Formats: sequence, structure tokens, C-alpha cells
Amino acid sequence: MTETDFVPSAYLEEKEAGSTVWKAPSNIALVKYWGKKENQIPANPSVSFTLQASCTETRLEYTKLEKESPDFSFDLLFEGAPKESFKPKISTFLSRVENYLPFLRKYHFTIETSNSFPHSSGIASSASGMAALALCLMDMEKELDPKMEMDFFYRKASFLARLGSGSACRSIKGGIVQWGRHKDIENSSDLYGIPYPYSVHPVFEQYHDTILLVHEGEKQVSSTLGHDLMHNHPFAKQRFEQAGKNLKALQPVFIDGNLVEFISLVESEALSLHAMMMSSMPYFMLMKPNTLEIINKIWEYRNASKTHVCFTLDAGANVHVLYPENEKDQVLQFIKDELVAYCQNGQYICDRIGFGAKKL
Ligand code: PMV
Repeated sequence: MTETDFVPSAYLEEKEAGSTVWKAPSNIALVKYWGKKENQIPANPSVSFTLQASCTETRLEYTKLEKESPDFSFDLLFEGAPKESFKPKISTFLSRVENYLPFLRKYHFTIETSNSFPHSSGIASSASGMAALALCLMDMEKELDPKMEMDFFYRKASFLARLGSGSACRSIKGGIVQWGRHKDIENSSDLYGIPYPYSVHPVFEQYHDTILLVHEGEKQVSSTLGHDLMHNHPFAKQRFEQAGKNLKALQPVFIDGNLVEFISLVESEALSLHAMMMSSMPYFMLMKPNTLEIINKIWEYRNASKTHVCFTLDAGANVHVLYPENEKDQVLQFIKDELVAYCQNGQYICDRIGFGAKKL
């Protein structure tokens, strides 16, 4: 499919007003997306676990305007209160998707959104937030085009979410989601995420991700700037190749459930991502001393316990602790005894692989 496949022809239905509510999850990448081309096209393919507990709920209400508005007409409420500071990001998103949703200037929208995770926890809400909003807009488009197939609905939702925040395209479907063209992954696309198309060992159906909140508040460097710094980065070419190779290497790991191999690929991806940040020009570092304390504790504990606990990182200081269902009691006890002390205000979120976005 190409971009033009997402440009609709004239709608058959008219709609004066309506509303819809969607809940979309966050996701955690195993092979990381870091670096992009124009129009949110990823520089390398990535794959993620869709999460369950960390999510955004968005309600979209729409009323037809008397005449088309020169600007997008919308109110935005975050956790029950108007939030002016979020509006520019939404306006940018609407202008990027306008070509694919030509009705946007004909309506006034009220967007009410809230997150399941604590505000300022340092957890990025852009993936779940953009996915939830994209799904609400698709729901509206389906009212105008009732014959739309659900496969197309979800694919276009992923396509639109990507234009808001790249990784958001992996927050529509559940389980394992892959995004970015890879020659060895059938139907993979730079334009949207797809449910991982090969067989997956049952051990990965019930994986846990306990998110340790190491540092609250704004990051020093946004991911937008971080992606940008991959242009002219001295190791960019090698990094993009490495991501492709790691994605291919995960294929037999997903089939066999080889957790030893899984751990080395996932941890290497996390550290390679942060190594890119540390070797950009200008360079920066998002890990904090407690991030490193936690990583070292996980390594020590894994050696001693012979469990399969491992870590990954997103673009921040928080640590995602990954472990299989059959080791859950033991590892959670270790987390409480040894790792929570390194979390800001003792905060952590018990999350796990989930089933994807849902209409409420
Ligand atoms: O979707 P963005 O632009 O916020 O970038 C996300 C990048 C990482 O979280 C670091 C990696 C990933 O693949 O999710």
C-alpha cells in the first residue's frame, strides 16, 4: 500500500454530530526506532510488545460547523481540565492527517483525554495518546463510510497515529507489533505497524513488564530532537543495519522461546539506543545514576537466581523490567526488595503484554 491508498474518495453518508471513546495502550520497543526520514518514515524497522495497564482514554465529540473553519476548531481537556499547552501538538497532528481525513475543518471537536499512569511519571504518553485519537477519528470516518472493512480501519488508524508520533503506530493492535520495511518480514511497511506475522512461542503471550519510575518530569532532550541527531550521526549507518539484523535474529527466538537469546538482543538494543544518544553531536544522556544501579542489580540477580529477568529502556531514565509469567512471583519479590528503593517516590507500574486498543 502507498500513502494515496489512505486518501478517501467522496463519503456516502453525512453526519451532523456524534461522539466516540477509545482506549489505547502504550508499547515498549524490543528493537528500537531511533532516527527518521521525512513524513515520519522510520530510518530502521522496529518491533514492540503492546502493553496493557499503561494507556490513554480519549473521547471525541464532533458537531458540524455552519461553514468550514479556516483553522482547526477544537477544545482540549486533559484529565478533566482545559489544557492549552497540548493544543499545538494536536494542531500539528491534524494538519499532518488532513489530507487523509478531508472532513476535519468541517467540524468542531471536543477532545477529552486522560492517562492511566501518573502525570509527570516520565512515561511518554504520546504513543497511547496519538493512537487513541487516531482511532477516534477513524471511528468518525467509518460513520461517513460505513462499508469500510475493519482491516483497513485498523491499518489506517496505525498510519494516522504514526503521523502524530512514530511509535504510536505500534499501539493499535495487541501482542507483538512490527513497524518498518524489512525484506525478511512479509507485508512489513514503513507506513503502519502490523501484527507480527510469524509464529510466536506461548512464553511471549504472557510476558510481564514492570516499569520502574526512576525520574519524573520533562526530559532534557525530546525524542524529536534525538531522532534528528541521527542525521549525520557517525554511527547511523551501522545502527540502522544493526536494528535490521536484530529484528531478523528475533525471528527464531520468537518461535523457539529462547529466552537467553531474547535477553541478549533486548538488552543490547536498549544500550545501543542510549549509546546513540551519548555519541550524538551534541551528545546527551537520559540515564540517571539509579538507572545504572537497577541495571547492575538485575544482572547480579539474574546470575544468582538463574531466572530470565532482563531490562529495556525507552528514551528516558525509567527501566522496563521484563520477565516471563512462570517467574513472576520470584521476580516481583526481587523488584520489591531490591529495585523499588531506586524509584522516585517508590513508584512503579506492573504492566504486561496486552491485547491492543479498544472501543469503550
Ligand atoms: O515515537 P517517538 O518519536 O516518541 O520515538 C520513540 C523512540 C523510542 O521509544 C526510544 C523507541 C521506540 O521504538 O519506541
